[in-house]
Amino acid sequence: MTDQRFLHNQWSSRLAFVLAASGSAIGLGNIWKFPYLAGENGGGAFVAVYLLCVVAIGIPIMIAETMLGRRGRQSPINTMLTLAQEAKTSSAWHYAGWLGMLSGFLILSYYSVIAGWSMIYIFKMSSGYLTHISADNASRVFNELKSSPEIQFIWHTVFMATTMAIVSRGVSGGLERATRFMMPGLFIMLVLLDGYAMNSDGFAQGISFLFKPDFSRISGESVLVAMGQAFFSLGLGMGSIMIYGSYLPDHVSISRSTVFVASADTLVALLAGVAIFPIVFANHLEPTMGPGLIFQTLPIAFGQMPGGSLFGLLFFVLVFFAAITSAIALIEPAVAWLSENRAMSRETACLRSGLGCWLLGFGTVFSFNLWSENTWFGKNFFELVDFITANIMLPVGGILVALFAGWVMKREVTETELEMGPAYSYWRLAIRYASPLAVALVTLSAIGVV
Ligand code: PFF
Repeated sequence: MTDQRFLHNQWSSRLAFVLAASGSAIGLGNIWKFPYLAGENGGGAFVAVYLLCVVAIGIPIMIAETMLGRRGRQSPINTMLTLAQEAKTSSAWHYAGWLGMLSGFLILSYYSVIAGWSMIYIFKMSSGYLTHISADNASRVFNELKSSPEIQFIWHTVFMATTMAIVSRGVSGGLERATRFMMPGLFIMLVLLDGYAMNSDGFAQGISFLFKPDFSRISGESVLVAMGQAFFSLGLGMGSIMIYGSYLPDHVSISRSTVFVASADTLVALLAGVAIFPIVFANHLEPTMGPGLIFQTLPIAFGQMPGGSLFGLLFFVLVFFAAITSAIALIEPAVAWLSENRAMSRETACLRSGLGCWLLGFGTVFSFNLWSENTWFGKNFFELVDFITANIMLPVGGILVALFAGWVMKREVTETELEMGPAYSYWRLAIRYASPLAVALVTLSAIGVV
């Protein structure tokens, strides 16, 4: 597939791809979402199912999705179309690209609101306001934020505008530069927080909550949520890894790069969990408190540390960076498609898709205040969009990628693309049978079909 018409920008090196893919994977999903989902879904058993999903389902699909992208070298929709033509099969496969684009768009609409929360905490930390804050006051500060549509509106807007400004500068200008400094910094801050947690009273209880599985505490829906979180955290099933793969030079080993990215992603989620749960237990908080968990626990830790205002400020700056590099990946498929198919400049494509996401984000802003009483299937707007995207759309996107890579593409083609040696047979087995069957079974059983 080296049609020069379609050979768009490429990463300048393997490292650039690994950094960008890690930037897409590591985000609010690891620091904000993983801990609160683990807290709500019974701790250790959830973590065990999550880890199993990353290894058995996530990594094989991540390899497949990156490979599809590199072979197609266009936006996900056009990649699927081209590869379907190459395999002489139905062009209907390009709807998988549409599904992914829509998922990214829906996810970004709420992602931006939560990223806005972390931006607010940058200022709260720097003002010294949270120094020696008690657990009650930390909850009060967070609840004030949640109940204010105006403040959330402002920061949602700032976050979305910043994302679109970076995306409009294109692959090597904006994306590569944005990812270079963030990961090592975030890692160091998490290790620091883990050091604090280790010395806190709740450490033993936190660790046992997180790593001692009690399978009686997990339900069918929790298994679905753990699998959805694996897709969400790795950034799979919606074309963003596909589009990053499309910028990947031919000679780079896909399997080695993706295993590295998945391991880094998982490590960051676990480090965040290890930092948070000891604080929860030491302060007699509830692990089940939901999306506010990190915002109500970490300020307590920073408030007690020497130099805590500075570390807290740095931490939330890094969370903001982690969020922005993921947000870029969420919107990139839509922007690439609009510029390829609608003959639009990158700037116009960014403006249009960004505006759409921004508007939809109001639904999430209002979920925590004006519309908090409005629920559908027992979920508010934010919870509904989150549930449908992470637990249904991403897994369905993942199954389609697996079926296409395992059953539609020819063995010679995938074998040459992947150059995995003997490990290829395991990947092929996983992608043809294990991954799609596991995803289908979990999804269908959780929504009550089987
Ligand atoms: N993986 C990101 C996170 O954990 O925050 C979120 C995300 C990015 C999901 C890109 C999906 C995606 F395509």
